[in-house]
Amino acid sequence: MPLATVNPTKTKAWEKLEEHYKAFHNTSVKNLFTQDPKRAEKYTIQWNDFYVDYSKNRIDETTISLLLELANEVKLKEAIEKCFTGDLINETEGRAVLHTALRAKANEEIFVDGENVVPEVYQVKEKIKTFTEKIISGEKKGHTGKAFTDVVNIGIGGSDLGPAMVTEALQYYKNHLNVHFVSNVDGDHVHETIKKLNPETTLFVIVSKTFTTQETLSNATTIKKWFLESATQKDVAAHFVAVSTNLEKIDEFGIDPDNVFPMKDWVGGRFSLWSAVGLSIALAVGFDNFDKLLGGAQAMDDHFRETPFEKNIPVILALLSVWYNNFYGAESEALIPYSQYLHRLSAYLQQGTMESNGKSVDRAGSPVDYQTGTIIWGEPGTNSQHAFFQLIHQGTKLIPADFIGFIESLHGDKDHHDKLMANYFAQTEALLNGKTEVEVNEELKAKNLSEKESKKLLPFKVFEGNKPTNSILIDKLTPQALGEIIAMYEHKIFVQGVIWNIFSFDQWGVELGKQLASTILTDIKSEKISNHDSSTLNLLRFYKNN
Ligand code: F6P
Repeated sequence: MPLATVNPTKTKAWEKLEEHYKAFHNTSVKNLFTQDPKRAEKYTIQWNDFYVDYSKNRIDETTISLLLELANEVKLKEAIEKCFTGDLINETEGRAVLHTALRAKANEEIFVDGENVVPEVYQVKEKIKTFTEKIISGEKKGHTGKAFTDVVNIGIGGSDLGPAMVTEALQYYKNHLNVHFVSNVDGDHVHETIKKLNPETTLFVIVSKTFTTQETLSNATTIKKWFLESATQKDVAAHFVAVSTNLEKIDEFGIDPDNVFPMKDWVGGRFSLWSAVGLSIALAVGFDNFDKLLGGAQAMDDHFRETPFEKNIPVILALLSVWYNNFYGAESEALIPYSQYLHRLSAYLQQGTMESNGKSVDRAGSPVDYQTGTIIWGEPGTNSQHAFFQLIHQGTKLIPADFIGFIESLHGDKDHHDKLMANYFAQTEALLNGKTEVEVNEELKAKNLSEKESKKLLPFKVFEGNKPTNSILIDKLTPQALGEIIAMYEHKIFVQGVIWNIFSFDQWGVELGKQLASTILTDIKSEKISNHDSSTLNLLRFYKNN
C-alpha cells in the first residue's frame, strides 16, 4: 500500500498552526521559562542513554499539541508501519524502503514480494563477519603472502559518506588497519591515496549499489591498473572485493564471485551503511562493534515505532523542524556535535536530509506551494564557535541548532571534557537568553567607559537571544550510541517527508547533471563541441584550448 497523499497545508492542524504562529511567534522563550518552572522537564525526553531537552525552542503546549495533531492528520502512524513492514513506499522506483530490516532482530519476519528478507540479511552479516575477521587477524593474506595493512573504500555518496563518517566517529575503537576512502572522480584524490600504499598489503573494497557510477568505476579502474603494474590478473581475487546489487557488472569488472557482498534494491544508498556497504566499518572496528552499531539503530527503530509521538524523539525533532521551516521560514538547521569524532556527521546527514527531502513535487505529482527540505550544515563545537557562531547569535537568519554532547569522554580527560561541555551548555544558554541592553550597559559601566563610548558600543553588544536549540545529551560515544544517533536522524528525515507529502527515497534530481556530464565528456574528448548555451560553450572552448 502506498503512503497516504495528504497536502499538509490543507489540514485543520496546519490552519490552526498558522493562527497560532501569528499570535505566538514573537514570544520570548526566556519569559516562558520564568513563567513555568517545570518547562525544562515538560520538554525533555529521556530514553536509554539519551537525554533530549527541547525546551529551548519557540514552543508552548499549544504548539506541540497542534504539531502532534498535524502528525496524526497526515497519517504518520500508518506511514511508519508501512515503512517497517516493507510496503512499496518508494513509489517512483517501485521499491520498499527497508534499511530497518538490515538491523532487525533475527527472529523478525519482514516480507518483500512474499519472501522473508531477514534470513538473507543474516547470511550477508555472517559473510561480513567471517571475511572481516580473517582480514583483521591476518589469516587472509595478500597475493605475496603478506597480511593486509590497508583498506581502500572506493565509492561515492551513500557508498562513501556513511562508512567514512562512522569510521571517523569510531576511531577510538579502531584496530591496526588503515582505512582510506576514495570518492571524488578528481584524479588527485585517488593518486594522492595510492601514492602512500603498498599494493601487496592493500585490500580494495569497491562499493556501488548500481555499479554504474562514473566516479566509482573510474577510481576502481585506475586502482586496478595501478595494482596490475606489480601483480597479475589472477592476484586481483585476493585484493578486490565488491559490494553491489549489480552482480553482472561486478563480474564484468573481474571480481571473484566469492568476494562479492550483495545488497538489495530496497536499501537506499544514503541509508545503506547498515548493509554490506558497511564492510569498511567492520574492517576498521571489527564485526562486533559493527554489530553493536546495528544494535543501537535497532533500539532506536523500536523507540520510533512503539513510542507515542509526544515522547518519540525522531518525531518531536521532525515536528520542530517543520515548525521552523514552514512557519518561521527558517531555511537551514545547524548540527553541532561536541565531539571531534563526529566531524563528518553533518556532511553525512546532508546527503540523508537533502537528497531525501530536496523535492518540490508532492506524492500526487503536483508542485508543492510550501517549503520542503531543510539545509543541513555544521561542524563540531568548539571549533564552530570560533567560525560561524557569530551569525547564529547575531545574524539576521533564524537557524535552529541541534547540540549533541556526551557525558563521558572516551579518553577520560576530565579537564578537557568539562571545558568542552561547559561550552556546550554555555552556547545553548547564550542562544536562549541573549544579552539585554541593561546587561550590556552594566558590563560597559564596569569597564569605566564614558557614557558616549558606551552608547556607541551598546547596539553591537546586545544579543537578541530566543534562538532555538535542542540539547541531545548521550552517555558516551559508543558504537551503540552512534547507531542510535544515525537512526534517530534517519527517522526524523522520514517523518518530515511524510508531513511534506513528498517521496523521500528517490533522487531524480541528481540524474540531469550526470547525463550532461557524459555528453560534455564526449565534447571534451572529441574535435567538435555539441550544442550548448553560449556560456557553457565558451567555457568548454577555453578549457580545451588552454
Ligand atoms: O548521487 C546519487 C546517488 O545515486 C546516491 O543516491 C548514491 O548514494 C550515490 O549516487 C552512489 O551510488 P552507487 O552506490 O550506485 O554508486
